[in-house]
Amino acid sequence: MIALEPSTKKRPEFINVRVRRQDGPGKEPYWELHKIKYEPELNVITVLMRLAQQAKTSDGKSVAPVSWDCGCLEEVCGSCTMLINGRVRQSCSALVDQLLKENSDEIVLEPMSKFPVLRDLMVDRQRLFSGLKRVQAWVPVDSYYNLGPGERIPRETQEQNYPLSQCMSCGCCLEACPQYTKIELTQGADESDEAFEARKEAEFSEGFVGAHAISQSMLFNNHPTGKTLANERLDTLMGPGGVAACGNAQNCVSVCPKEIPLTTSIARAGRATTVRAVTKWLNK
Ligand code: SF4
Ligand code: SF4
Ligand code: FES
Repeated sequence: MIALEPSTKKRPEFINVRVRRQDGPGKEPYWELHKIKYEPELNVITVLMRLAQQAKTSDGKSVAPVSWDCGCLEEVCGSCTMLINGRVRQSCSALVDQLLKENSDEIVLEPMSKFPVLRDLMVDRQRLFSGLKRVQAWVPVDSYYNLGPGERIPRETQEQNYPLSQCMSCGCCLEACPQYTKIELTQGADESDEAFEARKEAEFSEGFVGAHAISQSMLFNNHPTGKTLANERLDTLMGPGGVAACGNAQNCVSVCPKEIPLTTSIARAGRATTVRAVTKWLNK
């Protein structure tokens, strides 16, 4: 028997798309089945656009268009992360022809489970960015005046830093991490916006900071200007929800779309925090 080339295999006429929907924060989620005409070389964002255009379930019932987030459409902005056929990934780079090989019956779309749902497939990733603020994941500059040429960065340092600099804050590593558990708070009726924000930040600061933030700490601690905050970052990583909270399950590294060596960063952070703890103890 002659095996058919993938391009000549019979394609389905329609694609079933099962979507986990939620009408707003804290509302009960529910499943809805949609059906769109098959077209070759679709990605999941295009599928979502088709769903929004028709705004009808597979049995013809009119519904509100499904909501989702996206920006760059080229796996750079990190905003389109969702669970696709049960695996966390970017919807702009998830190709329908590949997904149909995983499951020829349907494509299943769900919001990430570790962040509060805003609506349908849109989640609130505030805690992800709060993690980056916790470790001061930036190069500190105190003004816009000309600081002159920066320090030369040796090639080995560039090679170590470049992969880490590709993090797009997508949250895949956090979704896959067993130590990163969901924090969802509700604003009290009498609570001001400021008080609610402060309560959220306090809660976030106790939870696991996440592999992305640990890795960014190692990036900026290895930068000639960024390293001026190295000890502050290490002190944060030694505190609650820091590097010791990592259970080394390595799920993070296996789902990162940018293939960032997250477990290598976590091991580096473990060694650096140990040295920092011993140095602090000796200097007491
Ligand atoms: S290695 Fe650590 S950060 Fe990565 S998934 Fe496991 S527990 Fe989470
Ligand atoms: S480390 Fe990878 S998976 Fe985690 S936020 Fe950055 S790009 Fe996404
Ligand atoms: S739309 Fe930017 S990463 Fe997918």
